[in-house]
Amino acid sequence: MPIGIVTVAYIGATILFILALSGLSNPETARNGNLYAIVGMTIALLATIFGPAVTANYGVLIGAVAIGGAIGLVLARRVQMTQMPELVAILHSLVGMAAVFVGFASFADPNAHFVGVEKTIHDIEIYIGILIGAVTFSGSVIAFGKLSGKITGNAMILPARHWLNLGLLLITIWLGMQFVQQAPAGNGMVPLLIMTGIALLFGVHMVMAIGGADMPVVISMLNSYSGWAASATGFMLSNDLLIVTGALVGSSGAILSYIMCRAMNRKFLSVIAGGFGTTSSSGSGGEVDQGEVIAIDTTETAELLKNAKEVMIIPGYGMAVAQAQHTVHEITKKLRDKGINVRFGIHPVAGRMPGHMNVLLAEAKVPYDIVFEMDEINEDFPDVDVSIVIGANDIVNPSALTDPDSPIAGMPVLECWKGDTTIVLKRSMATGYAGVQNPLFFLDNTRMLFGDAKETLDKVLAEL
Ligand code: TAP
Repeated sequence: MPIGIVTVAYIGATILFILALSGLSNPETARNGNLYAIVGMTIALLATIFGPAVTANYGVLIGAVAIGGAIGLVLARRVQMTQMPELVAILHSLVGMAAVFVGFASFADPNAHFVGVEKTIHDIEIYIGILIGAVTFSGSVIAFGKLSGKITGNAMILPARHWLNLGLLLITIWLGMQFVQQAPAGNGMVPLLIMTGIALLFGVHMVMAIGGADMPVVISMLNSYSGWAASATGFMLSNDLLIVTGALVGSSGAILSYIMCRAMNRKFLSVIAGGFGTTSSSGSGGEVDQGEVIAIDTTETAELLKNAKEVMIIPGYGMAVAQAQHTVHEITKKLRDKGINVRFGIHPVAGRMPGHMNVLLAEAKVPYDIVFEMDEINEDFPDVDVSIVIGANDIVNPSALTDPDSPIAGMPVLECWKGDTTIVLKRSMATGYAGVQNPLFFLDNTRMLFGDAKETLDKVLAEL
């Protein structure tokens, strides 16, 4: 394929990726956004494979694409909705790993023809590409472990961790200078390898030090890193499309990190420095006796709902686990048919990935115009007759506002306790992701509806 056609194809793919991003920013246009991304990626792959950069064995390339594509297809078909966050984390790690491999391959490439300043720039690209790639890889593997529950969600804090991080940074800069000096003479593998080891350790240390409730920021940050890693790979391979696409992912991930920080009332740097989310030593801990909870059954729940004028539904991770979204929609329809105003209140970090609840509700075809962000409806709770909390915990925990020692202190939450009655659906008195007990459950105007959310809601629907 001539270079001119490849360039046109790359520009077309870039435009499609930008359209995809803008489409994905709204549930109503998300499907189209996905479609643009699929078409863009197909064009990008075809133009790269049949472009002038590939001169070698097509058999190997097609074999690799077929194997990778088949694994991706099987995984995508098998993965449960609740496992999506882990899948995303592990996919980020693959981008990081690819950047590391491409970096070492570029360094070892016997056909590389760079000289003088160009050579220095190329060496810096390799060094930075491997650095970002290795941090992304090991950080994402740890994030995968934390999200899937294989590694404890609590923050693991090493003594003098800030000094340790600073020391690692200074060593990395020094090694980089060594590498750039030695590389023109064909040396430099030793500083490169040591830096890779340090970067891998740094990725592990960085994510281990971030506690449960701050994981949303880590996910969006690793999302951003994976973009920069791809961009660095693009520089190493002199592939414009990869540079642009990586920058799009990198910057949108950075914006998402900012949004997540704002949602949790955290400063980005303090999250990255770690230490939030450690187990509280204060009264919010699970062991402290907070009194009795008041249980309720499905008949009483249906009665309360029927007699309400304003209902607020607050979904959380448990709704995803129970796959209760379709029943939730059926109940919503029934209540709305009776003239009851039903709205959904969505916390920005509900569930386990950004937009988790919106995706589930869109899948169940809940109308978008009754789904509201936390900021839009938090002031309305005093007028709400019944709030129904479906498998949510941390996002409705009043101690975030009242207990400065709580691991989630300062995080804005949905203030459902200000309404007449709150019904909480969960299976037990277990804590949520951040590992803190929730004083909401013990309030006089809270009722606990114990059981799997799907099973109990099916019964409520039947009663209605
Ligand atoms: P959580 O605080 O994790 O609470 C979920 C609740 O659902 C649990 O208390 C659990 O109680 C209940 N549950 C689980 N399975 C259930 C089922 N089948 N039926 C009924 N209830 C069930 O969730 P949340 O309120 O959505 O808050 C999200 C948390 O995750 C925050 O701490 C957030 O920082 C963190 N996080 C978020 C993200 C993103 S990007 N959204 C990423 C990583 C971490 P039982 O076990 O008693 O049923």
